[in-house]
Amino acid sequence: MATAAPAKPDAAAAFAKGLEGVIGGQTAVCSIEQDKLIYRGFEIHDLAEHATFEEVAFLLLVGHKPDVQELGQFKAEIIAERALHPAVVSFLGSAAGWLASGRAVPMDVLRTAVSILGHTDADCQDNSAAANLRKSKRLLAKIPTIVGHMQNVIDGRAIVGLERGGDPSLSHAANLLYMMTGRRPSAEEARVMDVSLILYAEHEFNASTFTTRVIAGTLSDMHGAVAGGIGALKGPLHGGANEAAMDMLKEILASVGEQGIGTPAVDTWMQNAFDTKRKLMGFGHRVYKNGDHRAGILHGLGKKMAATLSGTFGGIPAGKWFVLGEQVQKIMLTKKNIHPNVDFPCGMTYFTMNIPVPQYTPIFVASRITGWCAHIMEQHADNRLIRPLSIYTGPAQKPWNG
Ligand code: COA
Repeated sequence: MATAAPAKPDAAAAFAKGLEGVIGGQTAVCSIEQDKLIYRGFEIHDLAEHATFEEVAFLLLVGHKPDVQELGQFKAEIIAERALHPAVVSFLGSAAGWLASGRAVPMDVLRTAVSILGHTDADCQDNSAAANLRKSKRLLAKIPTIVGHMQNVIDGRAIVGLERGGDPSLSHAANLLYMMTGRRPSAEEARVMDVSLILYAEHEFNASTFTTRVIAGTLSDMHGAVAGGIGALKGPLHGGANEAAMDMLKEILASVGEQGIGTPAVDTWMQNAFDTKRKLMGFGHRVYKNGDHRAGILHGLGKKMAATLSGTFGGIPAGKWFVLGEQVQKIMLTKKNIHPNVDFPCGMTYFTMNIPVPQYTPIFVASRITGWCAHIMEQHADNRLIRPLSIYTGPAQKPWNG
């Protein structure tokens, strides 16, 4: 027997553009509050100070803090899964021309590579909890390898660590940097990268995570959901903001010159941006109204490391980027009462680590894959199709042959 169609709720009352303030579901993975960010019961400052990315990845994917034995086994499994199938390596090589021409950016190439990973994964069509966890670990292990190999292709360097996906003695964060450059990072560089991965790992129902849940909610597979998540994260209003924030700082420097840092020339640049209603990248947040808990942590670490670096980065000493960044932050807060989000310090930090700007968002993926997979598993474990309603704003009904 057909059931009656549910009545549409009062449109005006129910509509929130961009789903602002709408509760889209339940999750045990993460909680965002104005005064704290929690991953499965642990607060982000605590994690950034005391945990490693591998521990946080286990926490998110498996659901509890690992003991020593669990962590050892998890790390061994991830290291064993780092190498890529030849089909993925071959694709990365063939993408060189598209990357060089600008027709494709690294986020696009990563998205396609993840799709190919799905074809090479024997569990691809299996949405059981056990298969999903196995796929999560493989994605976590292989995405940094994709990023590293892709950067080698872009730089025209021989692939670093082709056989084993880098150096098995290195941590996840250190190995990512090693694969991108062929140089083993210092302990401080590795720790800054590690903490940035912890900070980026999970953030509740943000746009890309929600995308992965919508896809998973149709009972589609994990690789498809992750490919969708990468598409959503690429945009400059979301993960792409870390690249856009650095591009903006470079634009300010090109306009005011090194001598202009700390002077009213920066205020003038900013005022012009305000007058033209330009969005300043790396600022603002849909949920946080008093500042992003993650931003201060990464800013502090990046600035501390920059103070130890010699030479110039994009034409100025590393520390000067943070002087400029702090000036921009101060103007934004004074004039607009808008705080930086995590992508703002990320831009300066990765730049002074000599990481090419177009890889900032792919590195974000190398971290957020943990949050996405945790949410995909949670969605599959207690699924209901995600299917909201809309308000029709098109023309009134009319006959085709009218
Ligand atoms: N630069 C300038 N103005 C900004 C701003 C920014 N980065 N972020 C918000 N604002 C202003 C808006 O112009 C708007 O002003 P108005 O009311 O006078 O029109 C007001 O603040 C509210 O912003 P709104 O765009 O409605 O907020 P939102 O919740 O829809 O958007 C973001 C949130 C993150 C998309 C938005 O802050 C933004 O575009 N930031 C830059 C991109 C970014 O850093 N993204 C990463 C987020 S982690």
